[in-house]
Amino acid sequence: MAEPVKVLVTGAAGQIAYSLLYNIAKGDVFGKDQPLILVLLDITPMMTVLEGVVMEIRDCALPLVKEVISTDKEDEAFKCIDVAILVGSMPRREGMERKDLLQANVKIFKSQGSALDKYAKKTVKVLVVGNPANTNCLTAMKSAPSIPRENFSCLTRLDHNRARAQIAYRLGVPSNDVKNVVIWGNHSSTQYPDVSHATVKVEEKEKGVFDAIKDDAWLKGDFISTVQQRGAAVIKARKLSSAMSAAKAISDHVRDIWFGTPEGEWVSMGVISDGNTYNIPNDLIYSFPVQIKNKTWSIVGCLPIDDFSCEKMKATAAELVEERDTAAEFLASV
Ligand code: NAI
Repeated sequence: MAEPVKVLVTGAAGQIAYSLLYNIAKGDVFGKDQPLILVLLDITPMMTVLEGVVMEIRDCALPLVKEVISTDKEDEAFKCIDVAILVGSMPRREGMERKDLLQANVKIFKSQGSALDKYAKKTVKVLVVGNPANTNCLTAMKSAPSIPRENFSCLTRLDHNRARAQIAYRLGVPSNDVKNVVIWGNHSSTQYPDVSHATVKVEEKEKGVFDAIKDDAWLKGDFISTVQQRGAAVIKARKLSSAMSAAKAISDHVRDIWFGTPEGEWVSMGVISDGNTYNIPNDLIYSFPVQIKNKTWSIVGCLPIDDFSCEKMKATAAELVEERDTAAEFLASV
């Protein structure tokens, strides 16, 4: 049997982790024959809840799980890990200003970035989920200078899956017949879900999504706002955030890092911008279309961008620049 992969999940007593840990533990992410060591980190007041989660993982009697470590200590949690899925973050409370939220999260992700730097394997793959995910990812990356920047990414796969599902639902086809949607930018309501390069299989024929749907007004209007606002719509209905679909998206994201993307297909992922791609400013964690091979992503360059898309891509970049600059002020002072 292979050596176990050591996977850290933070926010392990929370909602997303409750679905995610089961997906990982049963082999959906790293493969059906890959043994695992699961490391669960949460804050001290959540340790009793976490004990319950550990009991349930054991009771699932899943053969791949060789060990479960639960802790509230970062030095223990980040030690020699192969993968870090950073879900835990400071939630937005009523009356909380955006700046306050950023400040609280800069503190968390600076500390966890430093722990990655000190204790994790240098090959560790880091996925940031906790919001504001893009900027938290940037903070963690900057606080872990000994780990390659390319090892960091943030989750926009949920938005990607939502876009795919909207198109599939509208056409009455399975969602895996919809390919190559793109989420550009921030995991926030300024994100730009773009289907101008996407294809769909209808009656055994591959078509462009605009051709297949034949409703440009919907694709440039309600479709975009539905995907942008989907998280808020789920919270409104469920009174809780979208944990099941977030856990599925995290599983998709990490599985693609581990095993690669299918030939000719791309997925959306927040990764570091170099300033030379699609005119997006450098030093942002911006969601791009990426292909993955040998556990390494590359941005799909050279997609033609029309004026409509260009404006939307710029707007979401501007929001990320603002978040980055605010976070940088806090980063200097914590
Ligand atoms: P939750 O509130 O149920 O769980 C969060 C957990 O994180 C709690 O158990 C909390 O104690 C823990 N936590 C807080 N600070 C921590 C720290 N410093 N270290 C370790 N654990 C810590 O929230 P839920 O629903 O699981 O969501 C988690 C995060 O994921 C939120 O920030 C949410 O906004 C975000 N999210 C991101 C999505 C994306 O697509 N990027 C999609 C859905 C949610």
